[in-house]
Amino acid sequence: MSKRYPPPARFADQASTNASQLQSAHERVANDSEGHWLELAKRLDWAHPPTRAKDVSFHRDDFHIRWYEDGALNVSVNCLDRHLATQPDKTAIIFEPDDPNRPARRISYRELHAEVCQMANALTALGVVKGDRVTLYLPMIPEAAVVMLACARLGAIHSVVFGGFSPDALAGRIADCESKLVITADGGFRGGKVIPLKANVDEALSRPGTETVQTVVVLKHAGNTIAWQDRDRWYHDVVAGQPDTHMAAPMQAEDPLFILYTSGSTGKPKGVLHTTGGYLVWASYTHDLLFDLKPNDVYWCTADVGWVTGHSYVVYGPLANGATTLMFEGVPSYPDISRFWQVVDRHGVTLFYTAPTAIRALMREGDAPVLKTSRQSLRLLGTVGEPINPEAWEWYYRVVGDSRCPIIDTWWQTETGAALISPVPGAVDAKPGSATLPLPGVFPALVDAQGAILDGATDGNLVLLDSWPGQMRTVYGDPQRFIDTYFSTYPGRYFTGDGARRDADGYYWITGRVDDVINVSGHRIGTAEVESALVGHPAVAEAAVVGAPHDIKGQGIYAYVTLKSGIEPNEALRKQLVAQVRHDIGPIASPDWLQWAPGLPKTRSGKIMRRILRKIAEDAPDQLGDTSTLADPTVVSSLVTERLNRA
Ligand code: WTA
Repeated sequence: MSKRYPPPARFADQASTNASQLQSAHERVANDSEGHWLELAKRLDWAHPPTRAKDVSFHRDDFHIRWYEDGALNVSVNCLDRHLATQPDKTAIIFEPDDPNRPARRISYRELHAEVCQMANALTALGVVKGDRVTLYLPMIPEAAVVMLACARLGAIHSVVFGGFSPDALAGRIADCESKLVITADGGFRGGKVIPLKANVDEALSRPGTETVQTVVVLKHAGNTIAWQDRDRWYHDVVAGQPDTHMAAPMQAEDPLFILYTSGSTGKPKGVLHTTGGYLVWASYTHDLLFDLKPNDVYWCTADVGWVTGHSYVVYGPLANGATTLMFEGVPSYPDISRFWQVVDRHGVTLFYTAPTAIRALMREGDAPVLKTSRQSLRLLGTVGEPINPEAWEWYYRVVGDSRCPIIDTWWQTETGAALISPVPGAVDAKPGSATLPLPGVFPALVDAQGAILDGATDGNLVLLDSWPGQMRTVYGDPQRFIDTYFSTYPGRYFTGDGARRDADGYYWITGRVDDVINVSGHRIGTAEVESALVGHPAVAEAAVVGAPHDIKGQGIYAYVTLKSGIEPNEALRKQLVAQVRHDIGPIASPDWLQWAPGLPKTRSGKIMRRILRKIAEDAPDQLGDTSTLADPTVVSSLVTERLNRA
């Protein structure tokens, strides 16, 4: 029996949603789901309120996902203009720079609105119109939010690319959505180092397929030297003289809001497309419900805006709710390992949301760096991105939160827009390591390999039986791939790609990906992408990549590489191969282990048996399972011997 943690009494006493209120919401969905969804939409300001909520079919012959379709609204107006009447001087964004000796910035709703309007006018002057794609390649700074909201104001579709992705990865994402404009900075800071963002953009735009980009807007931020191209314009020049007001046109609820690229099990990253009305309803509702948001909260989500968590829970959810959201450019270990808690104390952070990998890395350094800070302002903690091991959960609860703050373990995906399975903090008992129960209106199920729904306490593959407003609508430019990827394994159901266990209380325990996606420090890396980078090297004949347990990262990347005949493995070549992956994708995809493989285990029909490779990487050679279909069983014994000999 795992331990249960009821909401701490002091928290529960003031929580906005208690168990019986949560129960009523579930009942409302059961009795009148359309009424429930329309009610939820009222949290936003609509230019034309929707009269219908859900119009969805997951069936192949009549596939469509539409929410609030006859409604019209502007996301940027919901995040900014509507707060000007009630709280213009409230801080919208607190910016904490990488270097703690530089001043922090506080930007009020009024100021943020003015900056966004100027940028919207500047984008218009640069020829950006509704439906155009704009790529952002920026550090974790307020201007990232400004540009996102300016795009939303115009109905331009933003695609934010994480600043840690390489020029090649950036080029692929620009080419796929045919961006007209790229916004970047000269450089960004991370742990005292400068990341050469503008140079990466220059390199990306030298790749074929990126010719659609007409303009690059460059923010002066790190002050590093950069090259200048004809297409480049300074950010401060394009906004200079632009009016700080802007009339935003309402968008249709199903107009696209953004594209965010994410790795899948096959092929190149997919452009996950989210739309306007349903996405904002779900991001703002879940942000309010799960963080028990109060007017005076100082909310800090440590995710980068390059990931979906940064979209929904740094920018859109909090700003739609009129909250104060903190953006931190740096890393948890700079200048020292107490940095997170110093930032909490400096700004009086009340709600703190981070990834298990960060918690594990900090836990390894012991309690002292945490205990020397106050953290008295904190009242709730959250995690996202990967399963949290119970030891890390307990440490987070006891040491960081002084056993005073509930922890919300929020399960969701880029595709789901915002959280689907999570404790509601004042209403649901936590169990360390479990994302607990679905939110009202979310219908998960566990199925077996054939798709049969499993009842009661069981293991299975996690599917969603019905839609929710924040669901992705399509893969940008490839609607068939959307259906094939998510709705064909179990026809008529959305397949998450995750495995899970459900206990006797109905609690969900996400066990991790069951497809060929590796979750490295909460970042999704497709094995196919890493393999394709490795075989791109002239010395490599074949490569197979799997995930293996990693103490800090959760999962690490384990690569098996077969060299072309006549080429001898050596240390220099190993380094070159790792560099090749960093070059093609970025440092986050660097293999943690690279084993030379004289051959790879294959079936007689030539299919690589990844199950076996995974077991070898996990150092569990006694659990290889059925090996009778192997074309050449000696391949496996040689790989096992080499694995065991690894220092
Ligand atoms: C994993 C991040 C366990 C899961 C929001 C999912 C989690 C993938 C949790 C999506 C959690 C996310 N517990 N696993 N609380 N949250 N995951 O698209 O495997 O970057 O499918 O979205 O992260 O990653 P993505």
